[in-house]
Amino acid sequence: MILGIETSCDDTCAAVVSEAGIVRSNVIASQGLLHQRYGGVVPEIAAREHLAVIGPVIDDALERAGAELADIDVIAATSGPGLIGALLIGLSTAKALAAARQLPMVAVDHLHAHVVASALGERPIEPPFVALVASGGHTFLARVERFEEHQTLGRTLDDAAGEAFDKGARLLGLPYPGGPEIDRLASEGDSEAFAFPRSAPGEGLDFSFSGLKTALLYAVRDLGEARTAERRADLAASYQRAIVEALLARLESAVIRERVTRVAIGGGVGANRELRSGIEALGDRLGVEVWIPGFSLCTDNAAMIAGAARFQPRLEYPSYLGLDAYARAA
Ligand code: KG4
Ligand code: ZN
Repeated sequence: MILGIETSCDDTCAAVVSEAGIVRSNVIASQGLLHQRYGGVVPEIAAREHLAVIGPVIDDALERAGAELADIDVIAATSGPGLIGALLIGLSTAKALAAARQLPMVAVDHLHAHVVASALGERPIEPPFVALVASGGHTFLARVERFEEHQTLGRTLDDAAGEAFDKGARLLGLPYPGGPEIDRLASEGDSEAFAFPRSAPGEGLDFSFSGLKTALLYAVRDLGEARTAERRADLAASYQRAIVEALLARLESAVIRERVTRVAIGGGVGANRELRSGIEALGDRLGVEVWIPGFSLCTDNAAMIAGAARFQPRLEYPSYLGLDAYARAA
């Protein structure tokens, strides 16, 4: 059994996953409310909170899995990319737990874990496949030939899709994180009400969301405070439609270009209902099989870290004690 630990941003996560990829427990302690009043994640606060709750979160993950530390064979932790202070709490905890029992340890890349999250569970995906990862910090398309690695096909040139949701929500006066708020509000609005720009599906597989955000800013400014409040659901629905269409257009191009028959989604934006149903429809239309992990495997979680660790090199004690965290993707 593998104990996974994830603390790259504002969620303190621990999970127990079997070598076969069955999730025994997946505990997520969200700090969302703590950062809400600042309108975004404050790195120093995130690190301090991870330190306060990482112990109980790991205990909880073990208990829910019906396991004890003695049942764990490998410890896995996210080593990057993410907030350095936050990452160091999880990585140091993992080192300490592994060293105390002289267990092997695996350092996992957060983005790769999102890419291969669909390898977990009763119906694991098989390579080759194309994955769309859309989160608050990253948005990219990847091709997976072997679970050990992925090849990036395209990425956002400016904002991440989740960032576009969060910044848009802020313009609409909605609390952080904005994705779930826009998702909820959009279901009551008209997605055709406002014509927001789409980045046209050209040759490349890169994304851009900054123009869309600016378009929303202008729309809100033109409407004024009172009318913006009145039309908030329509604005949210139209804005969400533009983000989702941009993601789906690139995903479709990637599937056709790469000639794969399987696609997967990962990252917090994968929780978006319009995106989920859009991917299902895309799968039907192109005749490809679709993997959409449950909500708790899409947002940041430690089950995907433990799951990805199955395909990464195991470092023996004490070689991992010098492992370092990294803030940015290589
Ligand atoms: O993967 P994740 O939990 O953390 C990062 O690694 O960034 O993704 C968080 C992002 C946030 O930007 C949040 O607004 C977005 O995912 N998100 C959503 C939804 N739920 C979370 N975006 C759109 N619709 C949702 N339902
Ligand atoms: Zn993430």
